Amino acid sequence: MTAVPPVEQRADDRARRPEPFAAPKGIPEYLPPDSAGFVHVRDTLAAAAARAGYGHIELPIFEETGLFARGVGESTDVVSKEMYTFADRGERSVTLRPEGTAGVVRSVIEHSADKQGLPVKLRYSGPFFRYERPQAGRYRQLQQVGVEAIGIDDPALDAEVIAIADEGFKALGLTGYRLEITSLGDADCRPAYRARLQDYLAGLDLDEPTRARAQINPLRVLDDKRPEVRAAMAQAPLLMDHLSEASAEHHAQVLAHLDDLGIAYTPNPRMVRGLDYYTKTTFEFVHDGLGAQSGIGGGGRYDGLMATLGGPELSGIGFGIGVDRTLLACGVEGVRPWSTARAEVFGVPLGDAAKRRLVTIAAGLRARGVRVDLSYGGRGLKGAMKSADRSGARFALVLGERDLAGGSIGLKDLVSGEQQDVSLDAVVDTVATAVAAELG
Ligand code: HAM
Repeated sequence: MTAVPPVEQRADDRARRPEPFAAPKGIPEYLPPDSAGFVHVRDTLAAAAARAGYGHIELPIFEETGLFARGVGESTDVVSKEMYTFADRGERSVTLRPEGTAGVVRSVIEHSADKQGLPVKLRYSGPFFRYERPQAGRYRQLQQVGVEAIGIDDPALDAEVIAIADEGFKALGLTGYRLEITSLGDADCRPAYRARLQDYLAGLDLDEPTRARAQINPLRVLDDKRPEVRAAMAQAPLLMDHLSEASAEHHAQVLAHLDDLGIAYTPNPRMVRGLDYYTKTTFEFVHDGLGAQSGIGGGGRYDGLMATLGGPELSGIGFGIGVDRTLLACGVEGVRPWSTARAEVFGVPLGDAAKRRLVTIAAGLRARGVRVDLSYGGRGLKGAMKSADRSGARFALVLGERDLAGGSIGLKDLVSGEQQDVSLDAVVDTVATAVAAELG
């Protein structure tokens, strides 16, 4: 053990230390015990996708910038304002991925994954990067769990994708969310509708920035939150009223599947997503307890994206769920279906010989799948028991020199306070069985 220096010397040492660093702005970090919630939310959402046959794909964190410019759309805020783009040391322009769909589609094309049978069903989880104005629920490094199903244009697949997200939220115990859904049509009805909407917008008294936005993407004006623009848009034509026969039929079938599955939905014909690739089915999961950043997940079809990115003419549908926001939603609803315990058993050795023996007992228990932590640094019983409580362990194993000589070890149930002596030869079996009974 190292000796503690006197108080004055410690103050001197502190003054000499360099300024500590802080994480970049707008990035949530998850440390124990809270990270247990993050991991549980992420894994629960991904497990729902795995149960529907979506295989894991591990994608690059950065890609060639052009992939997002072409795939997500130059006119979107994500591409025009929010990308982390830089030149690498070889002077190539690369971008930290702002979303997952473009990368998945790129990878499917590059590896001809569509030749192995359709649909190609993939799931992913990890960080994405958007240079947004940070606020509660809106981060510059955001975490998503996503799925993509590429190559089959079947309304049942749209319903499956939506059902996976819904199941994931339900498995977490969430109830305060709703599904909003619409259709953004197809190449047969979108251009005519766009022209119709532009005509309508031309007749309105809009300010210059809104007019400019209307030129690039008139659909965005439908989503304008300002009351005066909302009022002006009240009579605007809606794409849902001008769908092609094929899109209307597709949409009706998706809704019928959702009815069959008992998944409630709210039609939102004014929904506008921040990414340009959407066609037909488009949806968002909204949680009302989260204030302005209420979207906990969203997705839709992107039937032109494979071809736009140089691949075969294949359809696609998927979603991205915000893990950070879903975790916030759990907090708002007070659901906490995870344990923050780091270990089931905490070992407290009192003396060097006891430590040697407990280290091997811990290894034996770990080999049986039991999570075990130990007190290190020769701490006394009181401090070590405090660590045991902090670890969240159910049991403590306390081994003193006298126990060791007598061939036994103290096993304490940290919930009931009961304590018993267990033979050292049987301790691994006894504790592994007790833990299994607790977890069972
Ligand atoms: P997105 O709507 O841009 O879609 O993002 C999906 C989810 O990620 C959002 O609903 C939200 O929960 C979360 N999210 C987005 N931005 C932030 C942020 N700045 N901070 C915290 N959470 C955020 C996509 O990314 C599409 N790739 C989804 C998709 C997959 N569509 C088809 N396939």
